[in-house]
Amino acid sequence: MLIVEDEETLRESLKRLFVKNGFDADTAGSAEEAFELAKSGVYDVIITDIILPGMDGVEMISRLRDQVADQIFIVITAYASLESALKALRAGAYDYITKPVIHEEIKRVVENALRQKALQMENLLLKRQIRKRDPDGIIGESSAMNAIKSRVAKVAQARSSVLILGETGTGKELVARAIHFGSPRAESPFIPINCGAIPENLLESELFGHVRGAFTGAVSSKKGLFEIAGGGTVFLDEIGDMGLGLQSKLLRVLEDQEIRPVGGTHAIRADLRFITATNKDIESAAREGRFREDLFYRINVFTIKVPPLRERREDIRPLAGYFIERFSHELGKRVKGISADALALLEGYDWPGNVRELQNIIERSLLLADSDVIGVDCLPDNIRRSCSINDESVSGGCSIEDYTKQFILRFQHTHTEQSIADMLGITRKSLWEKRKRWGLSRSD
Ligand SMILES: Nc1ncnc2c1ncn2[C@@H]1O[C@H](COP(=O)(O)OP(=O)(O)OP(=O)(O)O)[C@@H](O)[C@H]1O
Ligand SMILES: [Mg+2]
Repeated sequence: MLIVEDEETLRESLKRLFVKNGFDADTAGSAEEAFELAKSGVYDVIITDIILPGMDGVEMISRLRDQVADQIFIVITAYASLESALKALRAGAYDYITKPVIHEEIKRVVENALRQKALQMENLLLKRQIRKRDPDGIIGESSAMNAIKSRVAKVAQARSSVLILGETGTGKELVARAIHFGSPRAESPFIPINCGAIPENLLESELFGHVRGAFTGAVSSKKGLFEIAGGGTVFLDEIGDMGLGLQSKLLRVLEDQEIRPVGGTHAIRADLRFITATNKDIESAAREGRFREDLFYRINVFTIKVPPLRERREDIRPLAGYFIERFSHELGKRVKGISADALALLEGYDWPGNVRELQNIIERSLLLADSDVIGVDCLPDNIRRSCSINDESVSGGCSIEDYTKQFILRFQHTHTEQSIADMLGITRKSLWEKRKRWGLSRSD
């Protein structure tokens, strides 16, 4: 620790106190001296008087904080200047004590601060370990998701290009990240680029870079994202939206592993892995000449299809649980779960926006929830209306199909198959077929 105090008696007595208690304590008589010392050593705790000759303690704290992030500052103030103590706290001091300094008090403050910091570190480590255990972060135990996870693990080791297909919000970018972070390139950059969001000519210089004077406004040369991603993975999202001109330039990168900046005469070697994604029917586009066929084969060495959420309804429950836990934590709420009715509604809904829509709805419901479970009343109207079994009048916006789905989900835990079929007026066989068609398993 470092003790910054201009009063010699106090400085030396604090030093003796902390050395006696097993600390390494350096001392400084001014902010300037403290800066010198802080240059060569990193202190976990810095105790400083607020009134110092020259630069004051508050100013010193804000400057030192810029240098090293996680040091603990404790401020000593005269009784009269509570105001400056507040100022110190705002500047980032952990706590303050007033003069006369009582040894037991300052010792307790320092010990508390260190204990708290140790706890924070422990939490951080725990979080990292949890992430390690579940490195892909892909939630879902449906057979479709399990198949995807094992494909991800397999393809991660290779260098082959991967094409990820799926509707919007199904988790294509998440899959791309899982591949990169499970690959030997994990320590190199993962660069996601949305090809649909940037105009074609800008996208080219964005990807390939340009040399000075390549076009009006190119006042200096600029590195492209392909060069920046060197050794890593480039994720080209919405590849289906890329114009034909740029497609042929991309093909050349894939074939020769070389990039040529706009206006440049030399090619640069590029060690890149390409992952691409689209929610369009790129295969038909290739057949019909709207997408280069040769490029299609290059990017499509390995395909991963992420099915829409309505075709893997078993995943809705674990995903909802995961989002509840995550947002509860982030929003400082105490919501722990979801009521059976509300879950049944989620499981019966068709999710045109897929996992992203589910995520948004859980976040919104958490904000509305005033007990520790999300109830039906927290869900948005369109989901409540999509089908409500509690509603006596099943009308407006609720198709027979939705109703049947809800019905099955609602009663399957409490009623036998035969009695559900009887209530619906269908045979057991057709109940079984409906289940299969809608991806409803008995455990839902
Ligand atoms: N299986 C999953 N587990 C956890 N989170 C998921 C899962 N699938 C999707 N998400 C989350 O849902 C959101 C949407 O996913 P993502 O951005 O990967 O979708 P996308 O398919 O790339 O969508 P778009 O086509 O609109 O770009 C993200 O916040 C993502 O973290
Ligand atoms: Mg995406």
